[in-house]
Amino acid sequence: MDIKRLNDEGRELWNQKAHFWDALHGDFGNMFHQRLVEPSVLQLLELKAGDIVLDVGCGNGAFARRLAERGALVTAFDYSEELIRLAKARGAALSAAVDFRVIDGTDEAAMLALGAGRFDGITCAMALMDMPTIDPLFRAAACLLRQGGRFVFATQHPAFNSNNPIFVHEKEDRDGVVGDHYAVKLRAYLDMPPVKGAGAPGEPAPHYYYHRSLSELLGAAFAAGFVLDGLLEPAFSADDAEASEGLSWSKLAQIPPVLSGRLRLA
Ligand SMILES: C[S@@+](CC[C@H](N)C(=O)[O-])C[C@H]1O[C@@H](n2cnc3c(N)ncnc32)[C@H](O)[C@@H]1O
Repeated sequence: MDIKRLNDEGRELWNQKAHFWDALHGDFGNMFHQRLVEPSVLQLLELKAGDIVLDVGCGNGAFARRLAERGALVTAFDYSEELIRLAKARGAALSAAVDFRVIDGTDEAAMLALGAGRFDGITCAMALMDMPTIDPLFRAAACLLRQGGRFVFATQHPAFNSNNPIFVHEKEDRDGVVGDHYAVKLRAYLDMPPVKGAGAPGEPAPHYYYHRSLSELLGAAFAAGFVLDGLLEPAFSADDAEASEGLSWSKLAQIPPVLSGRLRLA
C-alpha cells in the first residue's frame, strides 16, 4: 500500500467536500454524531474542567467546540486546510476557545511538536478509519499524553460497519405475523482492501475507508504501549428504529455502528 499517495489523495478529497461536511455537521455535529459518537466519547473521556485535550481529525470542529464548551482547553487538528478554515470561521466565539491547527495525523514528528506530556486527554472521533496508517498516531499519542492521560477513540465498528456493509430489508412471517425486518450483510472481515465510500448520502468526493479487524485496530494501540480500559458499542434505540424511514443505521437498534474505546499507557 502506498501510504503517502493514499494519504495525499485523502486530503485532497476532504478539501473538496469540506463545505458539504461543514453544512452537514453545523456547530455540534449531525444526528449520528450527537446520538452515538459524542455521548460515548464523553462518557469514556471523563472530562474535568480545565483538562488540556487534543482532538485528532477534528473536521469542522464540532466535537472540539463541545469539549471547549465543557471547560476543556482544546487543541484540534485536521489535515484538510479547508476544513480547518471552516472550523475557525464557524461561530467565532465558540471556535475562539479552540486552537485549530493543520497537522497530518500520519506525520509523527509534526504531532510530537505539539509538546510531550502536555495533554490530559486525546480524542479521535471517527477519523482512524480514514487514515491509511494509525501507527504514527498511537506512537505520538503515547508521548503527548501526561502520565495517567487517556486516548479515547470512536470509529466505525469493525465487525458491523466497516467497508460498506449492505443493508437488508426483508418481509417475514414470524409466528403468524408478517413484518418488516432489517439487517446488515457482510462479505468479509479479516482481509479487506481500502475501498471508497460516501460517509453520508449525497456526499461528494467519496474517500477511502481503511478497514481494520479488532486485532489490527487494538494491536496498533497495544504496540505503542497502551492498554484498553473502557469500551462502548453505541447503537440507535428501538424508538429511533420505529420512527426512522428507509434503510439506515437508525433502523438497526440491535447492531452498533460505532465502537468507542479508552486507552491508557500501561
Ligand atoms: C469522518 S470525519 C470526522 C470529523 C470529526 N472528528 C467529527 O467527528 O465530526 C474524518 C476526519 O478525519 C480527517 N482526517 C483523515 N485523515 C487524516 C489525517 N491523516 N490527518 C488528519 N486528519 C485526517 C478528515 O479530514 C476528516 O475531517
